Amino acid sequence: MIDVAAVRSETPGAESVVHFNNAGASLMPRPVVETITSYLEEEARFGGYETAEAHAGELSAVYDTLADLVRADPGEIALMDSATRAWDAAFTAMRFAQGDRILTTTSEYASNVIAFLRVVERTGAVVEVVPDRPTGEIDVEALENMLDDRVRLIAINHVPTNSGLVNPAADVGRVARAHGVPYLLDACQSVGQMPVDVDGIGCDILSATSRKFLRGPRGAGFLYVRRSMLERLEPVTLDLHGARWVASDRYETVPDARRFELWERSPALVLGMGRAAAYAMDVGLDDVWERVSRLARLLRASLSSIPGVTVHDIGSVRGAIVTFTVDGHGADAVKAALRGRSINVSIVTPGAARFDMEARDLPDLVRASVHYFNTEDEIARLVDVVAGL
Ligand SMILES: Cc1ncc(COP(=O)(O)O)c(C=O)c1O
Repeated sequence: MIDVAAVRSETPGAESVVHFNNAGASLMPRPVVETITSYLEEEARFGGYETAEAHAGELSAVYDTLADLVRADPGEIALMDSATRAWDAAFTAMRFAQGDRILTTTSEYASNVIAFLRVVERTGAVVEVVPDRPTGEIDVEALENMLDDRVRLIAINHVPTNSGLVNPAADVGRVARAHGVPYLLDACQSVGQMPVDVDGIGCDILSATSRKFLRGPRGAGFLYVRRSMLERLEPVTLDLHGARWVASDRYETVPDARRFELWERSPALVLGMGRAAAYAMDVGLDDVWERVSRLARLLRASLSSIPGVTVHDIGSVRGAIVTFTVDGHGADAVKAALRGRSINVSIVTPGAARFDMEARDLPDLVRASVHYFNTEDEIARLVDVVAGL
């Protein structure tokens, strides 16, 4: 059981706002903020390189913590500056040729689809969207029926940006493994919201961010690459950290996932992300998942009972993200009215997940995403404002 009063007292933002934008960027807990600010103070006083040397052990321990978080090996983790950087570093390290097939899902995130389309343009590979089950999640049987020896990659999201949907990532993993197809999972919205176990899921590559459900700082993320996959990927950018210049005419790529990193980074943010991951594990990800699903269910039910409000979430399993429209009020106006009462939500536009939003003919949606530090009372405050529009 989560001690909600305790986690709220460690969340400075909980005093000033009702924060339902956890799918955008959540509120950092105080220990995360303190980790970052005290590191920056030290940098200012002692020098950036000197501070990094003094904290080398803690910086290296971040790999262990993130590996624990997703049940990987520390050598399979690369520290990145965003989820897109992580996803892209792995995706662009794959080679595609004319006629190769990439299979994805209806709710795939815009930036990932843009990367697919660039490969399509450059190589003549094709990207195909696997149909959904009637309940909204990827149809794993349909996926299996689409597989042949031209399928080079299955790339889907665990939780999309634009609905409460949770895709059956482990079922997809079983199919990918059975057919030996590489499997890239965008876990940007799931890490920190629920337990994520790369072996349980069976993905080969996973990308994640610090700032959303993990409650870490902005400007940080991470990549997981299964060891057996590493040698098959050639990073597009290699510097003297991802590779060694071993003779005047020769370099060697480092053997672990750090080949995807660059030498320069913000150690303060790295430590902040590590602290956030440790904090999430201390709170307990099973409990986090239980609470966010329950709060989101309550929010959906309360919104649905307001005349003129439509909740648009799909999926037989639904998590923390709640999307809705209000008749006669654009998403911008709803967001502004809530902001006027210090309630934070965000908006998802069709351009963020076009396959899905066009197929369902959806306009801009209000996205209210709960986290475990939110309360039933905060939900009632949001619902009151929406009901009063
Ligand atoms: C499902 C999904 N994937 C990827 C991203 C991109 O993450 P980042 O902005 O950290 O690159 C987002 C961001 O909202 C997302 O919702």
